[in-house]
Amino acid sequence: MTTRIHTQTEPSFEKITQTFIHEFLSENSALSQCPAVRELTADGLENPEQNAARSVVPEKGRSLEEVIRELKNEIFTYGYETSHPRFFGFVPSTASRLSWLGDIMTSAYNRHAGSLANFPRGCQTENELIRWLCDSAGFPGTAGGLFVSGGSMANMTALASARDALLSEPDWSRGVAYVSEQTHSSVAKSLHLIGISTDRIRCLPTDRNFRMNTALLEAAIQKDLDRGLLPFTVIASAGTTNTGSVDPLSEIAAICRRYHLWMHVDGSFGASVLLSGRHRDLLSGIELADSLSWDAHKWLFQTYGCGMVLVRDRKNLANSFHAHPEYLKDLELEEEYLNPWNLGPELTRPARGLKLWLTLQVMGSGAIAASIDHGFEMAEYAEQLLARIPETEILSPAQMAVINFRFSPKELSEEEKDSLNLQISKQIVSSGYAGVFTTELNGKKVLRLCFIHPETTKEDIRNTLGLLEKYCRRLLKKTLRDEIPA
Ligand SMILES: Cc1ncc(COP(=O)(O)O)c(C=O)c1O
Repeated sequence: MTTRIHTQTEPSFEKITQTFIHEFLSENSALSQCPAVRELTADGLENPEQNAARSVVPEKGRSLEEVIRELKNEIFTYGYETSHPRFFGFVPSTASRLSWLGDIMTSAYNRHAGSLANFPRGCQTENELIRWLCDSAGFPGTAGGLFVSGGSMANMTALASARDALLSEPDWSRGVAYVSEQTHSSVAKSLHLIGISTDRIRCLPTDRNFRMNTALLEAAIQKDLDRGLLPFTVIASAGTTNTGSVDPLSEIAAICRRYHLWMHVDGSFGASVLLSGRHRDLLSGIELADSLSWDAHKWLFQTYGCGMVLVRDRKNLANSFHAHPEYLKDLELEEEYLNPWNLGPELTRPARGLKLWLTLQVMGSGAIAASIDHGFEMAEYAEQLLARIPETEILSPAQMAVINFRFSPKELSEEEKDSLNLQISKQIVSSGYAGVFTTELNGKKVLRLCFIHPETTKEDIRNTLGLLEKYCRRLLKKTLRDEIPA
């Protein structure tokens, strides 16, 4: 006897699916009128009754309608709506509906995109898109790359290639990598994964604009060489997470050439600016990198799970990741870099690039460029407004689409200012109106706003800053033991 993996009869499955799509699209089109955050309190998370019901896998299956309702109302409802035009935390994933549709299609067909034989047109389309992205970065004809799950995977994949290109296995323990204080935490994870111990990672101070200090970089490399160590890679950032700062890429490239090091650029956030006619120059020097991480689920408006690793010479990826097991011999190609499974750690993978392809085809590069420029404009607008709000201090001006500031009333100590800004963030998050979180710069707690949503309006920004100011006043009154207004 066979068991069907679909329990519903087909017509009912189809109807339920259509209803879900219909409901999702209508909710999604009204997103800006919904809360940007729906918090689930610790009490809610630990509700034993609800948890017990969910943790049981029933012996006899439940109705699809009921399970979908539970997923919608009890699971997906809570948390941060990172596609909301007033979600300004992290680097939000502002997912276009086009990407969502591409994602549905990719999952619907569920093609194995590990090799050209499995999914010829899919892999070819991804490879052509990778070529276009390499051209956008100014990489040479030898360049290539791969769609991976995000910036962390892109960094790990690139750094594995850097290690293999420059260090022989017995020398791994002497290899040294250089990062800055503002380098994303995924780089430290990647270095750990590729076998570089923490005492072989030099974390360099940044200048007052949060950019890697290249004089200190060169001195550190020289010192390590003098100690008999093997400097092998510098990780520069094109758009740091905290401030959007871009390291001096051309200078870093010159140092890497001088010392024969691999230059990796983490452009997970900022590389999308390559597609902006107006701001592309900010990334000048990126074309000299040996590898580049670029996240499409950040500033290219994709649903999660879409990043790119690009390398100056695709053979380097193949050298690190190719594998030729006997059970895949039928699918091997002369040019091994054409099969994605030879370019990164995954064997089975979805064709992550197709949703980006769909988005770019439908929007066109002009609309993408305009959407990216909008982020810059919104951050500059916020900066102008902040200049008019008393007692605010800008710790990092508008860079890319990010600005960092804090409320800094003179009468408070540094510790109290940290606590005040943290409380302000907590209050706006609890209100659901906007997602605004803190980070730390120069040892100070600051409010960080990242404006990459193309539908964020000036009104959203005015209202958000107005609310932050209101919370600040209320908290100050409370601190000074005055009555809190109703
Ligand atoms: C600069 C930078 N690099 C890497 C990452 C990690 O990317 P992902 O979360 O896609 O793994 C991020 C994420 O915010 C980032 O901002």
